[in-house]
Amino acid sequence: MKEEIKSIIVKTPDDWHLHLRESPIIEKVLPYSYKSYGRAIIMPNLEIPIITFSQAKRYYEKIKYLIKTGNNFEPLMTLFLSEDTKVQDINEGVKSGIIKAIKFYPKGVTTNSSGGIKNLSKIYKLLEKIADFGIPLLIHGETSNTEIDIYDREAYFLEETVLGIRKNIPNLKIVLEHITTKESVDYVLESKKNVAATVTAHHLIINRNHIFDGGMRPHFYCRPIAKREEHRIAVRAAATSGNSKFFLGTDSAPHFDHNKENSCGCAGIFSSPNALGYVAQVFDEDSCINNLENFISINGAKFYNLPLNSSLTKFRKFKEAIKYPEKIKIGKNMITLFNPGYPLYWENDILP
Ligand code: DOR
Ligand code: ZN
Repeated sequence: MKEEIKSIIVKTPDDWHLHLRESPIIEKVLPYSYKSYGRAIIMPNLEIPIITFSQAKRYYEKIKYLIKTGNNFEPLMTLFLSEDTKVQDINEGVKSGIIKAIKFYPKGVTTNSSGGIKNLSKIYKLLEKIADFGIPLLIHGETSNTEIDIYDREAYFLEETVLGIRKNIPNLKIVLEHITTKESVDYVLESKKNVAATVTAHHLIINRNHIFDGGMRPHFYCRPIAKREEHRIAVRAAATSGNSKFFLGTDSAPHFDHNKENSCGCAGIFSSPNALGYVAQVFDEDSCINNLENFISINGAKFYNLPLNSSLTKFRKFKEAIKYPEKIKIGKNMITLFNPGYPLYWENDILP
């Protein structure tokens, strides 16, 4: 028997930023989400991005079909914003109740984002419409200008693009996704309304040294890239504070190992199996466990104007480390799990 040393019960959490991919990956990774979360915001950057409502509906139905009976998980769908996006798709999507947000990728900034935004002026009218619909714009806040130092691209984009959008369309709700800098934290804190941020488990834990410690470590490579330690500390302090503007979005982004351990490796960290455990551990280490529920179960739902989950989840801390696999196998291929290099002591279960 494992020896339990601490526990806490919270409303069941949600994941406000998740990549589920397509077959054959989705079948293997989805259970990690539907067994532990009430809902997740599903990213639309498939190989053929989800731009129209009919594409989103098909993907939604596929996800629902793959959820085993007895799990109450609800996928919250997003549309990929392109310069050719039609207002009608957003309108139909929002009215159907299936589309909960619109995702903004600068063109070429990360996985499958070549259809993203290059010319901001082409989408201003669309952004105004999104503001009218009252759903959030989820911003991958990094410039795709490769002349800017990779560690400065988030702060640069904030100044270059986000400030302008906010000034011109102040009633647009925005979520700065997976923030990694002190500048982003400060900006969110200073914003009076309509601005929030998601934070990943890995950005609470790793800084840019981890990517290069003792050799190049592709499984710590993601976008936005982890920054200096002082930024990690600022992001971690914001998340663990319980402040309503910060909530968990794991950005769990599985790629096959051969695509990461490659001369041009993909960005993305696969964390859905253990992100919640590591997040609970972070809050415990920082003596903020009472703020955990705000960060994982309350703040996000409130920002999205959605009810809190009705079920409860129990987090338990054990004396012995929790064993989790190093990799999962899909056919002949492997996907490596997030492993910060130290043991995990926290586990979570939705209560019956
Ligand atoms: O590291 C990342 N991986 N960041 C993203 O923004 C996209 C994601 C992916 O889809 O692989
Ligand atoms: Zn992502």
